[in-house]
Amino acid sequence: MSKLPGSTGISLLGDKSLEFYRDPITFCERRIEKHGSRIFQARLLNKSTSFVCSVQGMKELLCDKSSVFLKDPTDVMTYMYGDNIVTTNGEEASLLRLSLMNLFTGKCLASSSDYINSVCERSLKDLSSSAEPQSVYPIFKRLGSELVLGLFLNVKAEETPEVFEEITQLCTLHWHGIISAPVNIKVPLWSSGFSTALEAKDKLMEIIKEKLELEQEGFVGCLRSLPLPDASCASQHLLLFISALIPKALASLLTSFTLALCGPGQEEVREQARQDPTYLDQVLLEVQRLWPPFIGGRRIANQDTTLEGYHIPKDSAAMYISHSVHRDPEVFHQPDEFKPERWSGSLCFTLCHQWKDSQMLPPPQGMLG
Ligand code: HEM
Repeated sequence: MSKLPGSTGISLLGDKSLEFYRDPITFCERRIEKHGSRIFQARLLNKSTSFVCSVQGMKELLCDKSSVFLKDPTDVMTYMYGDNIVTTNGEEASLLRLSLMNLFTGKCLASSSDYINSVCERSLKDLSSSAEPQSVYPIFKRLGSELVLGLFLNVKAEETPEVFEEITQLCTLHWHGIISAPVNIKVPLWSSGFSTALEAKDKLMEIIKEKLELEQEGFVGCLRSLPLPDASCASQHLLLFISALIPKALASLLTSFTLALCGPGQEEVREQARQDPTYLDQVLLEVQRLWPPFIGGRRIANQDTTLEGYHIPKDSAAMYISHSVHRDPEVFHQPDEFKPERWSGSLCFTLCHQWKDSQMLPPPQGMLG
């Protein structure tokens, strides 16, 4: 069995977290080139970590060996969001997945489309008529917040603007806790970002629990009626669904979409995307491929194992890097080029079946017709 390319150095001194989080894309590109391999090791968060930048490696990590590579229970996400599907493993995760999938089908989903259309029309109408240049990211982030809170919590900005603003601010404070050091210090007139975030979380949980008690209709009503393992499960999941992370991810993707399609050179693509919904789906997939909003995900090996034939020791971490995986030349021809039509052929079919067979993750959006 071969040793992973790269080195993890000695504890603390060999740590590369600062370099990685400053610029994850360059960090991986440099090492992929240096080692001639899309999987390599380095020290991250003071732990030996394999960086997975290939489609094959990611498939092994998340699908084939999902019982070996487990979510990290000491992750700050777990502390800030509590137990939910993102922090659960194995059979427990499969059962939760089965239950939660009901929220995204049938009557639950049907009731969402009118709301989505009306928020989009209202939020975006001024964009096309504006003569001045606009900064689109904040506009899309606001749109994302309106969608998330309206759909998942039945709090609509137009109907109850103060409640909407209060919850949006609490979600932002809670999110800042994830990206600040996990130190819970509170002294008069000053409190650490982390303790402020925990206070915001408590307030959000109160609002969520009240909603779950009172609302009969919509997403909250559907969630209430699901068979879930314990009483706190629904509220923990609502906390995840209204996380500030989701409007940020949506705003990032819509901004990338705008940049990819703007300018005089893209008139044809814009026209085709307007006319043909299938082509628009392909454009959206290509935007998600080239500019994924999240860095990736991290797991811990619960036994000695392998990834792409390389030895991975027990208790080491493995991290998939979405940006690099999505540009793996083994799977994507001319990986750095924006080519929406790549999603129309057999690649889409093959990946679609791999996702279906693995039954581990939801299929990428738009791939299952
Ligand atoms: C642009 C928006 C989004 C992006 C980029 C995104 C990205 C991701 C990624 C990368 C993961 C895998 C994390 C891992 O396990 O390593 C994930 C999992 C998950 N996301 Fe999202 N997500 C988005 C929107 C949403 C929304 C709107 C919801 C729910 C309301 C949601 C709910 C979930 C859930 C429940 C999981 C766990 C799935 C499972 O383990 O079966 N996500 N998401």
